[in-house]
Amino acid sequence: MAEKRIVLGNCGNINPRNIDTYLAKGGFRAYKRACSMKPKAIVEEITKSGLTGRGGAGFRCGYKWQLALNAKSKEKYLVCNADEGDVGAFKDKYILSNDPFGLIEGMLIAGLAVGARQAYIYLRAEYHFLNELLCQAIAQVAARGFLQHMDIAVFEGAGAYVCGEETALMNSIEGCRGEARYKPPYPPSVGLWGKPTIINNVETLMNVPHIINNGAHWFSEMGTAYSKGTRVFSVSGDVKRPGVYELEMGSSLRELVVDLAGADDVLAVQVGGAAGTILPASKIDLPLSHETVLGCGSVMVFNSSRDIIAIVYNDMQFLNEESCGKCTPCREGTEVMLEIYGRLTRGEARDGDIEALEELAKAMSLASLCGLGQAAAVPVLDSIKYFRQEYAGLIDQSMFLRSYLGGELNKTREGVR
Ligand SMILES: Cc1cc2nc3c(=O)[nH]c(=O)nc-3n(C[C@H](O)[C@H](O)[C@H](O)COP(=O)(O)O)c2cc1C
Repeated sequence: MAEKRIVLGNCGNINPRNIDTYLAKGGFRAYKRACSMKPKAIVEEITKSGLTGRGGAGFRCGYKWQLALNAKSKEKYLVCNADEGDVGAFKDKYILSNDPFGLIEGMLIAGLAVGARQAYIYLRAEYHFLNELLCQAIAQVAARGFLQHMDIAVFEGAGAYVCGEETALMNSIEGCRGEARYKPPYPPSVGLWGKPTIINNVETLMNVPHIINNGAHWFSEMGTAYSKGTRVFSVSGDVKRPGVYELEMGSSLRELVVDLAGADDVLAVQVGGAAGTILPASKIDLPLSHETVLGCGSVMVFNSSRDIIAIVYNDMQFLNEESCGKCTPCREGTEVMLEIYGRLTRGEARDGDIEALEELAKAMSLASLCGLGQAAAVPVLDSIKYFRQEYAGLIDQSMFLRSYLGGELNKTREGVR
C-alpha cells in the first residue's frame, strides 16, 4: 500500500525557511491563477471539487465560502484553525513545520475568494515553537509581494482544547473566555467581531492550491461519494512505525495501521481523538471516509495488552478537564461519567452502571452546546457496543467482591460481639 502524498507533497522536499525552494516547486502558481479569477469562480471551483473540512465536522468547504462571499460586509475575516488539541493529533504540526508556504498560499486564495482582508493563524499554545517559523514564512511571502490584499497574523491560543471549536476560538481571539457560542448564527454570516468569518483547518486550506492548479475534476476523481481527495492521518500507539501518513479517502483502516504503520496486534483503534470512534479489530477493513469514520485525523492503536475501560476513562479525564463548563450536559455529564469510570476501574462498579453510562451519553450528545460534550458520548457508546463483556465482567467482579467482603465483615463483626 503506497501513500498518496498531495497535501504532504512538499514536506521534506522544500526548506520551510526558504521561500525560493517553495517557488522552485511551482509555489504561488495557484495564487497567481486565483488573482486572475473572479471570487465567484474560485468558490465554484472549490465547491465543484467536493473539498470537505478536515478539522472534524467534514462540512463542504465551497458552501461555507459561498455563505461568506454572499455576506454583505466590508470587513470579513479568515482564520486558519491550527489549534490541534486532540489526543493523538499531530498532522497539522507536521504540515506547519514542513510546508508553511503551502498553508499561506491556501489562505491567500481563500481570502481572495471570500473577500477577507485580515487573516489569523490560530496556533495551539503548545506549538509556540512554530510561531517564529510561521512569522518568518509570512514575512518572506510579504517580501515577494503576495500579501497585497490580505494581512496574516499568528494568534497563539492559551492551552484550551475547546478553543479549537470554532466559536470558542473566535471568543479567544476577541479576548473573551474560551467558551462555545450558540449556533446559529454560523461564523460565515456572523463571526469574529460580528463580521463574516471563514474558519478552516490547516489541511483543508493546504488542499486549495492543488485544486486551483489541477482543477476541481482532478480532485473530485479521488475518494468516495462524499469524501473527495486524500486525508492526512497521525498514527500513534502500538504500531511499529508511528507517524503522519496521507492516503486517498476511502482507503481502509487496515492499509493505514497495519500496512503502513506496522500494527501486528490490534485490540482496538480509536479514530478522531479522545472523543473519537472506538473500533474493534474486526472492523479493520472499514474504509476511512466521512461516511464512516474520520474526525480530526488522529488514529490511536491499542494492542491486546491494553484495557479498553482504562482507555475510555483516560478519554473522559481529558474531556472533563477540557470542558469549558458553559453548558450543564457537558460540565456535569463528563463529571458523572468520570465518577462511573472511576468506580469501574477501582472495583467499585454497581449494577446498572452500563445503563447509566448509555443514558447519560445519549443525553449529552443531544443536549450539549458544542461538539466536545456531544462527541464525549462516542467512545463510551462504542466501547459498550463492542466491549460490553469487559464492562459486565468488572461489574460482576465488583458485586462479588462486595458480597464476599460484606460476608467476611459480618463474620468479623459477629466474632467481635
Ligand atoms: C472541542 C472541539 C475542538 C476542535 N478542535 C479543532 C482543531 O483543533 N482544529 C480544527 O481545525 N478544528 C477543530 N474543531 C472543529 C472546528 O470547530 C471547525 O469545525 C473547523 O475548524 C472547521 O474547519 P474545516 O471546515 O476546515 O474542518 C474542533 C471542534 C470541537 C468541538
